Parts: sequence; C-alpha cells; structure tokens
Amino acid sequence: MGHLELAVLGFTCCLAVASAAKLGAVYTEGGFVEGVNKKLGFFGDYVDIFKGIPFAATPKALENPQKHPGWHGTLKATSFKKRCLQVTITQDQTYGEEDCLYLNIWVPQGKEEVSRDLPVMIWIYGGAFLMGSSQGANVLSNYLYDGEEIATRGNVIVVTFNYRVGPLGFLSTGDPNLPGNYGLRDQHMAIAWVKRNIAVFGGDPNNITIFGESAGGASVSLQTLSPYNKGLFQRAISQSGVALSPWAIQKNPLFWAKLVAKKVGCPLNDTARMAGCLKVTDPRALALAYKVPLAGLEYALVQYLAFIPVIDGDFIPEDPINLFANAADIDYIAGTNNMDGHLFATVDMPAIDKGNKNITEEDFYKLVRALTTSKGPKGANATFDVYTEPWAQDSSQEARKKTVVEFETDILFLVSTQIALAQHKANAKSAKTYSYLFSHPSRMPIYPSWMGADHADDLQYIFGKPFATPLGYRSQDRTVSKAMIAYWTNFARSGDPNTGHSAIPTHWEPYTLENGTYLEITKKIDSSSMKQHLRTNYVQYWSLSYQALPTVTDGEDAPVPPANDSEANPVPPADDSKANPVPPADDSEEPQMPIVIGF
Ligand SMILES: *[C@@H]1O[C@H](CO)[C@@H](O)[C@H](O)[C@H]1NC(C)=O
Ligand SMILES: *[C@@H]1O[C@H](CO)[C@@H](O)[C@H](O)[C@H]1NC(C)=O
Ligand SMILES: *[C@@H]1O[C@H](CO)[C@@H](O)[C@H](O)[C@H]1NC(C)=O
Ligand SMILES: *[C@@H]1O[C@H](CO)[C@@H](O)[C@H](O)[C@H]1NC(C)=O
Ligand SMILES: *[C@@H]1O[C@H](CO)[C@@H](O)[C@H](O)[C@H]1NC(C)=O
Ligand SMILES: *[C@@H]1O[C@H](CO)[C@@H](O)[C@H](O)[C@H]1NC(C)=O
Repeated sequence: MGHLELAVLGFTCCLAVASAAKLGAVYTEGGFVEGVNKKLGFFGDYVDIFKGIPFAATPKALENPQKHPGWHGTLKATSFKKRCLQVTITQDQTYGEEDCLYLNIWVPQGKEEVSRDLPVMIWIYGGAFLMGSSQGANVLSNYLYDGEEIATRGNVIVVTFNYRVGPLGFLSTGDPNLPGNYGLRDQHMAIAWVKRNIAVFGGDPNNITIFGESAGGASVSLQTLSPYNKGLFQRAISQSGVALSPWAIQKNPLFWAKLVAKKVGCPLNDTARMAGCLKVTDPRALALAYKVPLAGLEYALVQYLAFIPVIDGDFIPEDPINLFANAADIDYIAGTNNMDGHLFATVDMPAIDKGNKNITEEDFYKLVRALTTSKGPKGANATFDVYTEPWAQDSSQEARKKTVVEFETDILFLVSTQIALAQHKANAKSAKTYSYLFSHPSRMPIYPSWMGADHADDLQYIFGKPFATPLGYRSQDRTVSKAMIAYWTNFARSGDPNTGHSAIPTHWEPYTLENGTYLEITKKIDSSSMKQHLRTNYVQYWSLSYQALPTVTDGEDAPVPPANDSEANPVPPADDSKANPVPPADDSEEPQMPIVIGF
C-alpha cells in the first residue's frame, strides 16, 4: 500500500465522516475495506454494512487458522462469502468453500455523525457443529442472521462470521497429531480480529458480547472457558446450549477419526500417518465421510453427533466443569426454550407429532435406556420412574408425549444450562448472571396444540424477523421480538439487560443460587414473568440422585453415555475390523431430514 493511496483513501474517509453518517472506506489491519451505506426508510437513519471481510487466511485442512496476510487497494465488502465447506441438508453433497473465514459487520449510524464507541455483539451460529453459515438461511428474501434489526433497534454493532464445521472443523485423533477444535479456533480468530479492529468501525473494543444458539450457544460457553480469550470480550449469551451440554464434547474422537480414515482409505493403525493422509485427502471427501442418521435410529439422535469440540489440553485445557474460574469476570445470560427437546424427540419417536399414533411405555423406556447407559439398567429404571410418575394421574397420549419432550429438553438442554448458570454464579467475581426460559409457542401448523417453543424458535425473534418480514408475523410476535432485542442489546451495553438504550417490559432480576431466578419470555412479559426454581426437582434428580448411582462404565459424568460405552453404545467398541457403526449408512437410503434452522 503506497502512502499516496493511503492518504487519498483516508481523505475520502474523513470527508464522508464530515458530511453524512457514513463510514466509507475503513482502514483495518489487512487493508482498506468499503461496505454499503444503507438508508433506513425515507426520514430514517443509516446502517453501514460490510459483508465478507477476511479475518484469517484460507485455512489448511485440519490445521489451526492463521492470520490473513492483508491486501492492496480497497476490498469491496459488499456480498456474503461462501459458507465453510460442509454437507448439504441431505448429506449426500457438499457446498461452500475452504476459503471461508470471513465476517460481516452492521454499524448503525445516526443522521449527522458516524457512531463511536458502540457496544459490539458477535454472533456464533448453531447447526450441530455440522452445518451453518454467517448469514443463515434465506427466508422471504431475508437472511436469518442479518444483523440489521438488532443493530439499528439496539444501537449496537453486530458481527457474524463463518467457522469450520463437520469433520473439517472438529475431526481429531485425540492426540497432538490431530488435536481438533479447528472450528473453535476459527471462532477465537474472529473474536480477536473484532477486538483489534472494531474501533475503526465505531465499536468499543472494551464492550464486546459474544452470543450464539445451540452449537453456537455451546461455543459461546466454551469460548468463555478457554484461556485463549482472556480479556477479549466482556459478556456472553448462550441460547439453548452450553459447554456442559451432553452433545458439546466428544470423549472418544479417535473412534470417529478412524471411521472417516477408513472411508477415505487412510491408515488406521498409526495416528501420525492417519493425520498426514487425512490432511491431503480431498476435503469434500472428508466432509462426506460420515452421515448423521436421521431415521431408523437405534439410539438417540444426539448420540450420533460425532464431530464436535474435544478436550485438547490446550484450547480446552480440561473438562469444562473445571474451567468456570476463567469466566469469573464475564457477564453471562443463559437460557433454553421450554420445548427445546421436541425437535430431537420427534426424530427419536416420530409418533410424538402424530395425533393418530400412540406411544407406549416400552417406547419411552427404550429411549430412556439409550440416553442413560452410563448408569446401566438402574439408571434407566430410576429415570423412567421419575418421568412417568405423573402418568398415574394422567395417562393420556398427550401427557405421555409431553413427558417425552420434557425428558429430552431436560437431558439435552435444560439441566446442563442450569448447572452452567450455577457454576457461573458460584465462580463469578465481578460478573453478573441472568437466566431465562423462552416459552413463546412455535407457529408450525403441523405441531400438536400443546406445543411450546421448539429448538431454534428463538432465533427469528432475536434477529427481529417479525419487523424485517412483518407479513409472516402477528403483532404479538413483534412484542416478543422487541423485548428480546431490548434485553439482549441493553446487556451488551451495560452487562445488565435492564439498563441501556431500550425500554424493557419488566425488570429482569439476576440469577441467584438460592432461588434460581429466571425470566420467562412470552408475548406478555410483566412482573409475574420473574420466576424461580426452574424444574428444580428434575435438575436435582439429574445432578444428585442420578449422579450418585454407580457408573457401570468408566469415567463418564454427563447424563449421556460415552461414545464407546459398552452395552448401549450407539457405536461398537472402536475396533477397526468392525463395519460402519452408523445404522442407516446405506447410501441408497435417503435420510428424512426435518426442516431445521439453527441446529
Ligand atoms: C461499555 O459501555 C458503557 C456505556 O457506553 C460504558 O459505561 C462502559 O465503561 C464501557 N466499558 C465496559 C467494559 O463496560
Ligand atoms: C500399519 O499398517 C501398515 C500397512 O498395513 C504396516 O506396514 C505398518 O507396519 C503398521 N504399523 C503399525 C505400527 O502397526
Ligand atoms: C391410542 O390410545 C387411546 C387411549 O389413550 C385409544 O383410545 C386409541 O384407540 C389409541 N389409538 C391407537 C391408534 O392405538
Ligand atoms: C428395571 O426394571 C425392570 C422392569 O420393571 C426390571 O425387570 C429390572 O429388574 C429392573 N432393573 C434394575 C437394575 O432395577
Ligand atoms: C429468594 O426469594 C425469596 C422469596 O421470594 C426472597 O425473600 C429472597 O430475598 C430471595 N433471595 C435472594 C438471594 O434473592
Ligand atoms: C473407550 O475407548 C478407549 C479407546 O479406544 C478404550 O481405551 C476404552 O477402554 C473404551 N472404554 C469403554 C468403556 O469401552
């Protein structure tokens, strides 16, 4: 970059500053970037939008991301880059690129002057660590993770970014040959880039919040616990996923690495040779080497999520339960949707959504057993008894189906979130802690009448879709969306969801260990929405009674069994001579993929 060019661009930049609320070309560590300045409505304010700024170099397969070398001239940041290479929804093709480590920025502007020192919110998408992109699905010509509504309503900068997923993001041999967590390190690179560069966009590098949902919520939680992020951000929000979620950490990564290696023809008997071979294998073949089965499952769906974060002794130094001291100064909001488990329950037990189909005690017992293998039949029986106790009063099909959904909501999301909140609170020094339950019912017409908020239902409200695409929504949906954006962006500004740019419907009291205080988010939020002791009996059952049962296999504390848990394992013991453990791995069989956004 010549001095003349720099001077000229700097001049354009400052002229723009003086005459209108517009950033123009911005000088980042990699070089100049120029986005688009969009006027909002006829008399409205402006938003500067930057799409596709590189925050790291094109990553090498199965290696840590590296810094971007920079560029000459001005990079036009005007369109979303391709997602990171991953399988499509049918899992029989790939899309996206290896060159994918880009981020997007929305900067709200007033009419006269460009913004300064704005709080910054960085979004981490979900998708089971298997799929997803910085912009999300395009619905009604509007991208799910478009940051404009949050940015302009809450007067904050919003950043979204891509990270690697699936085998390319998380395959690990469980040793230094392929330590794994590449996707988590991409996330960290994006966060660190924002910390270093956001001031020139008008952001306050000391007021950064990371937020995410599902695998993104667990990622947020893991980033707060990793020593790599010390001082990089001040606050965090985990929606429907935490580091302690039973699907957040892979305890036996080598088993799944061997599965992929076998499929693509790499050596299995030596992890150094396996790693060397996998790194030079066509990355598309790696992405396609494993399919999550979606029908005819022998175990619960969640047990087939193979490529997820690992304890690598470095980025995640040890079991997350021991790392909460690292988040002692990070303000934290965590919560779940009241029927987060529904999406999974319907894959595990399709009769749930079918009024003309019944479920039996045996069906439920089989599911309980699959998800409680680490405690053997004793654990299954105790759990079955706890959950079916209400059936003595009401044995209707509706009651039974709701029980199945509650069971999966508890085991996959709610209990681990409550434990994470308690750990955060117990370890907090300066940090605040807030808990919520999102209960605004799903609007999917095919769902049963008793349906509450399904997994990922919160996304459309936090991203302001009832405002961006109003025809698809009712006024009560806008009420929910407005309240959530107000709480979330106030929290980003001050660490307190009640204090900031936006009016809120009721005071959200902090979480306490004594009362388990939480806000229930519905279409009518008032003082009665502050509640206490969310499903305490069940949380205590899982964290005390169930834990106290003898473990029949070694070393697993989480409610979900380890991947190689002997008897009820979804996969056979990691023995190379065995065939592919994944039940419907038959390529001719078209998986029944539920329409899912977020997970
Ligand atoms: C964040 O922004 C608020 C409001 O602008 C300010 O009071 C605060 O000092 C900033 N920094 C931190 C670390 O909260
Ligand atoms: C691994 O397998 C290769 C080829 O089958 C063989 O040559 C090599 O000796 C084996 N290495 C070990 C450590 O068993
Ligand atoms: C389902 O169970 C109900 C009783 O709860 C019974 O009346 C109904 O006939 C059953 N339907 C089927 C399809 O088995
Ligand atoms: C679990 O319950 C079944 C059915 O009631 C019973 O046959 C079995 O003995 C129980 N197992 C244990 C370990 O309690
Ligand atoms: C817990 O709730 C009780 C009853 O609402 C209240 O009196 C008490 O102050 C609360 N404790 C804390 C620590 O908030
Ligand atoms: C799990 O797998 C590891 C590595 O293959 C093995 O050492 C361990 O014994 C297995 N545990 C169980 C319970 O099968």
